[in-house]
Amino acid sequence: MLFKIGVLIYGYFAGALIQAGYWMGKFNKIDIRDYGSGNAGTTNVMRTLGKKAGIATYLLDAFKAVIADILIHFLIVPHTAIPEMLLFLYCGLGIVLGHNFPFYLKFKGGKGIAASSGVVISLMLFPKYCFMFTVFGIVFFALVARISRYVSLASLIGMAMFFVEFLIWGFLGWLPLNGTDLVEGTVIVFALAALAFIRHRSNIVRLVQGTERKIGEKKN
Ligand code: G3P
Repeated sequence: MLFKIGVLIYGYFAGALIQAGYWMGKFNKIDIRDYGSGNAGTTNVMRTLGKKAGIATYLLDAFKAVIADILIHFLIVPHTAIPEMLLFLYCGLGIVLGHNFPFYLKFKGGKGIAASSGVVISLMLFPKYCFMFTVFGIVFFALVARISRYVSLASLIGMAMFFVEFLIWGFLGWLPLNGTDLVEGTVIVFALAALAFIRHRSNIVRLVQGTERKIGEKKN
């Protein structure tokens, strides 16, 4: 239990401190949360500061999860019998919580999609069918984004798919988790998907009202 709480806390601080959208804004002398959708994430950085800044924000936010997970692989995994994937998921949950609710920004951060995608990318490092798990998730997100031109819709459907895929892969025995570990992992992935929906409440309202901004659209 100590290891699980430890990686969750470690993930929280990694997620909160490497707040790419916020720091990208500061670097450009603005608080990104005062612009566009008010979100400190990739999409809002892209619409406010341009493509390059958006891509850099995505890479930093996603790879903070990948790098945190790689550190766990080398520093924690050799010292515990807890399955590596479960530790990755605890760390990933911490990262998304830290990203969404950073303690030093009055708990107002991003929506956790880039960070969650980093968790999905990390799962690629596992054997068996995990590579397919990640590729399938990314392709699905890209397809929805391309067809609908709504990043928020693609994010929400992508996160729901993350949970559904996890259920299917777990049921088919394609994940390196069994019994209570698999149940625990599934609960964490459900929490990640639920967090995405909670953080996208305003996007959901705009999607329903037809006022959500599409990719490349300047104004509502
Ligand atoms: O990942 C965030 C995206 O889904 C929506 O961002 O800025 O349009 O609220 P935004």
